[in-house]
Amino acid sequence: MDSLADLPSGPFLPATAYGSARVAEAERRLYANRFWHPLAGISQLPPGSCLAVSLLGQPILLSHPLDGPPRAFLNRCPHRGVALQDPAEGTVACRRLVCPYHGWTYGLEGTLLAGAREADFLEPFERSAWPLAPLACQTLGSLIWVALAPGPIPLAEQLDLVLEEAGPWLEQPRLLLASANQELACNWKIAHDNTLDDYHVAIAHPTTLHREQGPVRHYRYRLSRCATLLATPHAAGGEFLTFGLAPWTHLLCWPDGRLALISFLPLDPGHCQMVVWLLGKAESAADTQAWLKQLQAFLAEDQALVEAAQIGYASGLVPGPPHRLEQRILQQQALYRDLLGKALLDPASCGDNRTGAS
Ligand code: FES
Ligand SMILES: [Fe+2]
Repeated sequence: MDSLADLPSGPFLPATAYGSARVAEAERRLYANRFWHPLAGISQLPPGSCLAVSLLGQPILLSHPLDGPPRAFLNRCPHRGVALQDPAEGTVACRRLVCPYHGWTYGLEGTLLAGAREADFLEPFERSAWPLAPLACQTLGSLIWVALAPGPIPLAEQLDLVLEEAGPWLEQPRLLLASANQELACNWKIAHDNTLDDYHVAIAHPTTLHREQGPVRHYRYRLSRCATLLATPHAAGGEFLTFGLAPWTHLLCWPDGRLALISFLPLDPGHCQMVVWLLGKAESAADTQAWLKQLQAFLAEDQALVEAAQIGYASGLVPGPPHRLEQRILQQQALYRDLLGKALLDPASCGDNRTGAS
């Protein structure tokens, strides 16, 4: 266990950081753009397929060429901006992409293979000048990770504790077995803080998560700049690993090889989208619904708390003193503060455009 002297220091972020439109805009530029985002399971994108998704309002197209690794692009035809594929279509088996507007055709590696009526452009037409706009893309842990802007923090640094504690084990291929989305009436940081909060588990989740994590005296912590870990002995042997990851993701690892990824994506300052993905080996598929139900039981307990906290924060709360079991919150908030800049989070400068819970 950490000594108190080693713990990250408070105070918590001011309440104004949870309701300001100005902060929300800055988060996008200075925080979200610095990280990699898991956008799909590798099992969703076999070679010779494409999948349209969106992240923070950006249209993104994932493709998997037959002879290379998965790629990511803006889902936006360079001619007049139309999407090449609709997210509602899910995974589409294809060898090439044909724009539905004027018929330009692209390979899955993003090059323009043919324009339409090429001889009649008003200026000389060079296919090579019109590729799809690429985004940085990597695969790790059975997931496809994408960065929205140049110069992200390296993925190996973002996931350093995961790689150190679960690296080789993480590389075993897993399928995306189930997913669930739900809107929460709270700022994403309230939901993220709550999932990093080990102080509330025994009180708020006595028959759910607390049973999985066991007594507080056995908690093992590790903290790095971008990640936090709570490891607890598991009844089935081994450890249950709970990683809190920048920017807003949580990775739960069971000793039997199952993984759950829980993300809280910002919508507006008073709302976020909770996304839950369950990954496991094919043999875990039969029990997926029971597993999802088990997770949703403690997430429902949390929903009531985070939505109530949103109302408290919006009423001008000055957050109380941090507890040792809240150290993972402080660690992630230190990174957030560092990337956003202290000046922006000063209550005097971010108190504009506050929105309450609705
Ligand atoms: S917008 Fe795609 S071909 Fe014109
Ligand atoms: Fe909780």
